[in-house]
Amino acid sequence: MIKPKVFISNIIPEKGINMLRKRFEVEVNKTAGILKKNLLINKLKNTDVLLSLLSDIVDEEVILSSEKLKVISNYAVGYNNIDLKAATKRGIYVTNTPRTLDETTADFTFALILSLARRLVESDKFMRAGKFKGWGALDFLGFDVFNSTMGVIGMGSIGKEVAKRGYYGFNMKILYYDRSVPPSALYMKVQKTSLDYLLKHSDFVTLNIPLTKETFHLIGERELNLMKPTAYLINTSRGPVIDERALYKYLLNKKIAGAALDVYEQEPSFTAGLEKLDNIIMTPHIASASLQTRELMSVKAAQNIIDYFDGRVPEGLVNREVLEGKHIIIF
Ligand code: GLV
Ligand code: GLV
Repeated sequence: MIKPKVFISNIIPEKGINMLRKRFEVEVNKTAGILKKNLLINKLKNTDVLLSLLSDIVDEEVILSSEKLKVISNYAVGYNNIDLKAATKRGIYVTNTPRTLDETTADFTFALILSLARRLVESDKFMRAGKFKGWGALDFLGFDVFNSTMGVIGMGSIGKEVAKRGYYGFNMKILYYDRSVPPSALYMKVQKTSLDYLLKHSDFVTLNIPLTKETFHLIGERELNLMKPTAYLINTSRGPVIDERALYKYLLNKKIAGAALDVYEQEPSFTAGLEKLDNIIMTPHIASASLQTRELMSVKAAQNIIDYFDGRVPEGLVNREVLEGKHIIIF
């Protein structure tokens, strides 16, 4: 029997790859960096499954170029890199890796909050530069995280973990903005507010939303202007939810206290000038980058593919419309 072909667009942890090797003919691309579109198109001609990374742009052209493609298993929770409509039209299953990275991303969000508030990166640079000449009562004064107010934009599974850490670990007052999640769905004291109220009253604003048409530039000049001059903005979601140039201006003119970005509008590049500012921390999209989580993501991405070929509905299926009119087993 001919084994279906799986193309993995770049290296991921072995565990998931090994699961796939048992059943499929697996090819892993090993070129460094993001796979070029024409190479991806070329590879997909003869492939049943694409296991993609969030940096692969799987647009309509890519999807339509393949006659055989049945599953796109995205190695990520976010799937804004895939044209869902085009995939659905073709009956292609698109899957993600839910419930793998919520806590890891929340931990990282707190690493950023604490580092920003206590000026960790700045003071580390100071030490390395040999500038520490003796203890000073006014040196590197930061902002207390405990007892402060945190505004969580997007109270999904990641937002909840962020809120939990703030509430239970740091006694923070939690405000949140989310159109669907009611406060009764959360096992802690939280206040659901409008976006504007949240921005006006939070010391730390964290973005935990997917990128969609509605969330594009959710935080622009008007929104930044509502923030307290002492407040910090943290983004571990997707770059384009912030107008990065507007943020640059606000940081440059010190109109807010600081920002931490793990994601960028035009990844992997970023607005020129950000690298010169002391009031920003920039990390290379690593909020989910723990050994355990990245391995679990590989297992889930593989399992989604296996489920499809076994006739089960993959746990991570995001375009459920493909199921319409199909005879399927639901577990
Ligand atoms: C990471 O950014 C993800 O969406 O998994
Ligand atoms: C600080 O190091 C202190 O002892 O107060």
